[in-house]
Amino acid sequence: MSRIPQSFIDDLVTRADIVDVVGSRVPLKKKGKEYTACCPFHHEKSPSFFVSPEKQFYHCFGCGAHGTVLGFLMAHDRLDFVEAIETLAGQMGMEVPREGNNTTQENPHAPLLGLLDECSKYYQGELKRTPKAIDYLKQRGVSGEIAVTFGLGYAPGGYDTLERTFNANDATRDQLKRAGMLSEGEQGRLYDRFRERIMFPIHDRRGRVIAFGGRVLNDDKPKYLNSPETPLFHKGAGLYGMYEARKALGRPERLIVVEGYMDVVMLAQHGVREAVATLGTAVTREQVDLMYRTTTQVVFCFDGDEAGQRAAWRALESTLPQLRDGLDARFMFLPDGEDPDSLVRQEGADAFRARIQAEAVSFDRFLLNELDRQTEQDGSPAARAKLKSLAMPLFQLMPEGTLKDLVFDTLAKHIGTSVTRLQNTGRASKPSESSRPPSTNTPSSTRQSAIRKAILYLLYHPELASEYELDPAWAQSTIPGFALLSELINTLRVHPMPLGVLLEHYRDSPQLKTLDALACLPAPQDSDDEQVRQSMWQDMLNHLATAYSRERLRELTAQPFDQLQAHERHELLRLSSTKNTP
Ligand code: GTP
Ligand code: MN
Repeated sequence: MSRIPQSFIDDLVTRADIVDVVGSRVPLKKKGKEYTACCPFHHEKSPSFFVSPEKQFYHCFGCGAHGTVLGFLMAHDRLDFVEAIETLAGQMGMEVPREGNNTTQENPHAPLLGLLDECSKYYQGELKRTPKAIDYLKQRGVSGEIAVTFGLGYAPGGYDTLERTFNANDATRDQLKRAGMLSEGEQGRLYDRFRERIMFPIHDRRGRVIAFGGRVLNDDKPKYLNSPETPLFHKGAGLYGMYEARKALGRPERLIVVEGYMDVVMLAQHGVREAVATLGTAVTREQVDLMYRTTTQVVFCFDGDEAGQRAAWRALESTLPQLRDGLDARFMFLPDGEDPDSLVRQEGADAFRARIQAEAVSFDRFLLNELDRQTEQDGSPAARAKLKSLAMPLFQLMPEGTLKDLVFDTLAKHIGTSVTRLQNTGRASKPSESSRPPSTNTPSSTRQSAIRKAILYLLYHPELASEYELDPAWAQSTIPGFALLSELINTLRVHPMPLGVLLEHYRDSPQLKTLDALACLPAPQDSDDEQVRQSMWQDMLNHLATAYSRERLRELTAQPFDQLQAHERHELLRLSSTKNTP
């Protein structure tokens, strides 16, 4: 896809005001220099959500949610990065430029997408003129209307149908192959991948056909055939029916994950438009991520058999790491021998919805039920301890937040212990702030905090970047923080940005994590007087210069003198002659 120039993103984020953007979605109250509200990302009664106009950054001290104006739009409006940029630009009346100026340059896959679109149209036409395919769909209860909504088609028999239909030359044949429509046989012969199958086009978020699934009309094997992995299509990231669900519902309140193509189609036909299907594979994290960008509740609806249980377990493992506050996951299992398609046809949409209401269990309940079964739970201390050791690493996958805390409450109750005990043993396995030894005042840890302090101060006062010259050697230094400080000063000198803008500038950089963590720290001790600020800054830099010399001295003396290069010897002599002021 075409890139949005970084300069435009910098400009957009510079012009936007996070207070306006957040304020139009959450009622903000002014409090000192900042604005505050009850956090939109978790449930709370007293406000711990803060928006800083100075930093152009928001932060919730309750659930830890934080970020820039674009980050807020992504999390709050459930947008991806490009959508957030488009939304913000739209609000500011700015047009989003794209790098590259014609469509083929813009999207290298444009020819493949065009071809798949034509294939889909061709299959739809073939369906209309193939009575046995129409009969098959009729007999399964598929209406003509829903067939059109989902773009269902029919791939006729024959091995060179597409080739003849497109009057293909070598280039087109190659593209059809790259798009997954032709398979390669012995001696490199190309032939139609899909023959005599009902065709289900798979769309991307924008509704473009990126792959197909095809079903036989009889009992032949394989029952379903999918497109292979192609430049356009990655199975683990695809969700059948997602585009159709979003088209019908916008941002649905929940999504129902089912196993089959036909389940999605038949649920939609009966008015349950929020169903999506994985493409015959285990639910991946990518798919879960995609779902939670669209909705806050996911209901996994699987067969009641052994395979269904296994699939649900895999789904749970992919879901836990993404269950932030405000999100929910539920599981439900269908009666033996039924699938959503058969159920909705028998009992209708209302009964199907009621069934979800009554039978879907919360993800933590599902996990505990499963582990009860696996540990043959009889309430004995051994069985309960076993359950705990299985449950802890799974629940630990969840991001920090109230939801996670509550789940741990439930787990503690379930095995009959206290949360404190649970947490104590749980935390020990994972290094965290609380289990780290208290910081001793080694030279290196004071140096660390000095550099952090300086970077933090600079982040709050980007204009200070132009005040003093730094030692150019810092830029190459391997002492943690020095290279980052130099780089920030160089960037901010050219373009003094507030913190939130800077974070967007560093979005793809390995430094982002460090900056993001610094952005969440409380504001440094400060003064309103510009001259005082400048002298504070100078003090910090002087202090760092001393620390730098000391560290370099240590580095250089650690090596045998005769192995040092000439400039290093000079440096060493200079450093040891200028006695550092204590
Ligand atoms: P029907 O109702 O018989 O059309 O199928 P279904 O949608 O109920 O499918 P089933 O429960 O048999 O399988 C669920 C999903 O698994 C299907 O929609 C496919 O995505 C996938 N699947 C089933 N059989 C096959 C197969 O033979 N090969 C592949 N690749 N996938 C399959
Ligand atoms: Mn079925």
